[in-house]
Amino acid sequence: MIRVLVSSTGCGEVCVNNARRLGHGILATCSAFKNKSEEAARNQNLVTSLFKMVRKYTGQEILSGKTVIITGANTGIGKETARDLARRGGRIILACRNLEKGENARREIAEDTNNQEVIFKELDLSSFASIQKFAKDFNETESRLDILINNAGVMACPKMLTQDGLEMQIGTNHFGHFLLTELVMDKLKASSPSRIVILSSAAHSWGTINFEDLNSEKSYSSFAAYQQSKLANVLHALELSNRLKGTGVTVNSVHPGIVNTELARYMNSACMKCLLVPLAKFVLLSPEQGAQTTLHCALNPKLENVSAKYFADCREKTASCRARNEEDARRLWTLTEEIIHSKLPSTPM
Ligand SMILES: NC(=O)c1ccc[n+]([C@@H]2O[C@H](COP(=O)([O-])OP(=O)(O)OC[C@H]3O[C@@H](n4cnc5c(N)ncnc54)[C@H](OP(=O)(O)O)[C@@H]3O)[C@@H](O)[C@H]2O)c1
Repeated sequence: MIRVLVSSTGCGEVCVNNARRLGHGILATCSAFKNKSEEAARNQNLVTSLFKMVRKYTGQEILSGKTVIITGANTGIGKETARDLARRGGRIILACRNLEKGENARREIAEDTNNQEVIFKELDLSSFASIQKFAKDFNETESRLDILINNAGVMACPKMLTQDGLEMQIGTNHFGHFLLTELVMDKLKASSPSRIVILSSAAHSWGTINFEDLNSEKSYSSFAAYQQSKLANVLHALELSNRLKGTGVTVNSVHPGIVNTELARYMNSACMKCLLVPLAKFVLLSPEQGAQTTLHCALNPKLENVSAKYFADCREKTASCRARNEEDARRLWTLTEEIIHSKLPSTPM
């Protein structure tokens, strides 16, 4: 049952989708591609490979003397990534929007790993003012940045706007992380070799960048907006990587697997609550398993010079055709900068 749902909508996280959305997904997917049978085979292969994601990152790297920022680290994949990194020493900064959840996660991870350099700093990626405040504080108080993990995400929410008037999913998942990355870039460069890991999703494969209506003002579909934001994540990694050539800073994007987390919090149909939530822990990856590909990209010494790649299951994979389009990556970069500048005219980037 679950395999059918996932395969039809073409999105791992969408396995708990309801029938109406499922119909939309089928129609949207079908209309987007000329060769439907080829696309169906591609979807099936992708779905089969998604369910086989079980590799564990086994590297023993130590992080003493290094500093990591991980966004959205109070729960889910981000929290388990932070826990693993904290066990390796180093200064692990949990960048979270909720004071209570952030402080609870900090305390739990610090106690569990015996690392007193697990730090919580407030960051709301749906507010440019909050991102600027976080970055100012970080740049003034921290001496280095070795690993930036852009992990936080929001999926399939009803139409909502960020504090700066952007659609919530592209605003948080793409714009928020884009601005954050630019504002801490000097520290990454000064600490090189350093790494950026961007959490995308296999859902990027079904996304398109709507350059005429990036902000979904003309029409809004909660899943299309998520898919667009995750495609934007891969394109961001691609263009950023081109711009960072020769600096010693690498950037790669990740699909973490289909993971049992709070990501589906906005999908609260009766079917979801009664049937799929109880099943989820048996069929989906645990958050700890979901952290493995991020850890692989953040730590594996073999990836020191690898950039602009897309990873899943601790292996390099081929991102979708649209996610490898260099022209779209440049166009998205320019549009993103223009929109940020229109909201924050004085921000140097
Ligand atoms: N789970 C999956 O199957 C799956 C599959 C593919 C990709 N991913 C990607 O993996 C990443 C982690 O997701 P997850 O599954 O661990 O989801 P999750 O359990 O919902 O965790 C998401 C985290 O992001 C934070 N966040 C959301 N909006 C934020 C904002 N405006 N500012 C700061 N933090 C914010 C959340 O904070 P609060 O707790 O305060 O809300 C939470 O800490 C996401 O980028 C997601 O797209 C997940």
